[in-house]
Amino acid sequence: MTEKRQILVTNALPYANAALHLGHILEYTQTDVWVRFQRMRGHQCYYVSADDAHGTAIMLKADEKGISPEQHIADMRSIHEADFRDFHISVDNYHSTHSDENKHYSELIYNRLVENDHIAKREITQAFDAEKKLFLADRYIKGACPKCKAEDQYGDNCEACGATYSPTDLINPVSVLSGTTPIEKQSTHYFFKLPEFTDFLKSWTRSGAVQTEVANKLGEWLDSGLQEWDISRDAPYFGFEIPNAPNKFFYVWLDAPIGYMASFKNLCDKENINFDQFWGADSSAELYHFIGKDIVNFHALFWPAMLTCANFRTPTKVCVHGFVTVNGKKMSKSRGTFINARCYLEHLNPEYLRYYYASKLTSSVEDIDLNLEDFIQKVNSDLVGKVVNIASRCAKFITKGNDGILSSTIADTALWQQVSGAGTVIAEHYENREFSKAIREIMAQADAANEYIAAKEPWKLNKDPNQHQQVQDICSLGINLFRLLLTYLKPVIPAMAEDGEVFLNDHLSWSSIEQPLTGHQINNFTPLLQRVDKEKVDAMVEASKQEVEQANQIVIEGPLADEPIADEINFDDIMKVDLRVARIVKAEAVEGADKLLALTLDLGGETRTVFSGIKSSYQASDLEGRLTVLVANLAPRKMRFGISEGMVLAAGDDDGIYLLSPDSGAQPGQRIT
Ligand code: 2FM
Ligand code: ZN
Repeated sequence: MTEKRQILVTNALPYANAALHLGHILEYTQTDVWVRFQRMRGHQCYYVSADDAHGTAIMLKADEKGISPEQHIADMRSIHEADFRDFHISVDNYHSTHSDENKHYSELIYNRLVENDHIAKREITQAFDAEKKLFLADRYIKGACPKCKAEDQYGDNCEACGATYSPTDLINPVSVLSGTTPIEKQSTHYFFKLPEFTDFLKSWTRSGAVQTEVANKLGEWLDSGLQEWDISRDAPYFGFEIPNAPNKFFYVWLDAPIGYMASFKNLCDKENINFDQFWGADSSAELYHFIGKDIVNFHALFWPAMLTCANFRTPTKVCVHGFVTVNGKKMSKSRGTFINARCYLEHLNPEYLRYYYASKLTSSVEDIDLNLEDFIQKVNSDLVGKVVNIASRCAKFITKGNDGILSSTIADTALWQQVSGAGTVIAEHYENREFSKAIREIMAQADAANEYIAAKEPWKLNKDPNQHQQVQDICSLGINLFRLLLTYLKPVIPAMAEDGEVFLNDHLSWSSIEQPLTGHQINNFTPLLQRVDKEKVDAMVEASKQEVEQANQIVIEGPLADEPIADEINFDDIMKVDLRVARIVKAEAVEGADKLLALTLDLGGETRTVFSGIKSSYQASDLEGRLTVLVANLAPRKMRFGISEGMVLAAGDDDGIYLLSPDSGAQPGQRIT
């Protein structure tokens, strides 16, 4: 074994305003497989993560829900932590960017940037929502494109003609938050003088710290000239106030990566680890960030520049992956392919997906397609058909024929050495994040093992009592080959490997592949993995669709929406819809329905029950007493859980759900016109 490395690994911190979906799980699988591999190799490898808890979106979400941002992020954090746990993501610590440690390091780094004269301060003019009293980020402004006049364009670029512009150039701009016309307002902002780091970044990005394709992209940005980075936001903002700058807050992306340090520091304090050994400027430890291709600028420009300026070490590698497509297309809610992590877990074993992702992951930034047919086929044929099959074919001869004791010799040393020797190249592939190559090699070895057993036909030999020892020897080698394969797969399918360890009565580590188990007692074999059931996959897709349908919402699509406005209707059409003010008198979870709340509504004399898919965004008890809007003349719908007598209105996008409410003073039963 080579010398023991000290490694710290992070994944991109998920925003504390939305559930995790299968796109997130790709990254966490990639990170976790790599981390588990390093640990199996005997290295000291810490893996930390956290919720990314700051920013306007999170503040507005909490506001909508009528809860404090602190409460909102605490709720999201426990949901995220459960998803991490259930996908077997082996983080050593899960923390929050809204933490004392993060405040400390954010201030420390900022103060060092100030001391080194890398912070500029100047007035800028920005769009301002005078009703909401908020400066508006680009995505909160919409209007007609100044070039092609297409309506409803958000932010600073037109989806119709591709023009880029300043949001202040939009024709008839309106605030998405209030519908009012934004005014222009001046305010002092703080900037990180990024251009001063151009030379440093030119060399850092070519030092092997990022993939070549990423370095090339960064090279284009570096050559075309960097801009100073606006790191401040005006109050109200959910974040950390900037030292000596009252009412100015760090932009969420300033303190988000510092959250990596914060989570690690939190772990260090709990486990007495030396923080400086990992983050000091002269650290010999390795630091790996796993991220998606959409956030490269933050991690490979701003972050290393900040770190170096503040006298911390820079990342060893920023490992960038692509996006997940499902069945060849962008994940889509209407097709049921926008699959939340929890929905997947309710239907399928997490290790199927871990295996499938690993079988497709490379070190490149290419997108990964989750093709559901291929997913079923690959998991069943590889894991069940090739790997588990070896053990299930061989185990019974050992347990029945020899009281579970493996032979004391290896029947085919060349084959043993071949499969054992493959560990070297498999390890190289894991190390280089070429997981698909590792899996291909493991499956090639599994094929060799299966061919050996098929050729030897121990089930036939077993009919002849004179061949008893030969059967034992063949099957003992089979079990030993299975043990090697399971060891190689352990970073990918840790739970199955753990069950396999019980069966093998052995602990699987990378160093144990050198020696076979001989004269060793194994336990009774129990099937280690069920085949993927297509019906369950179909049910998951259906449930994902229903999550949208059951959300029972009129979806007012947000800025990121790609759904066109529905066909025009006339006045009579809208008058057919009877909208009523309703008071929520009771709200409770629905057993067996992850997304639904059962709402008991008072319509001023009449009581209705409505199932509404708003559970992910609301605490049931917080809704009681609140007014909302009911589509009162919708035909009752029979659902699995009972009859839904109408529909409450909510806006929703990928980030959450916002229940509509009339202003206070409205009376239950009043018609809304
Ligand atoms: O893109 C995102 O989802 C961000 N929340 C990632 C932050 S990574 C790190 F900088 F915190
Ligand atoms: Zn346009």
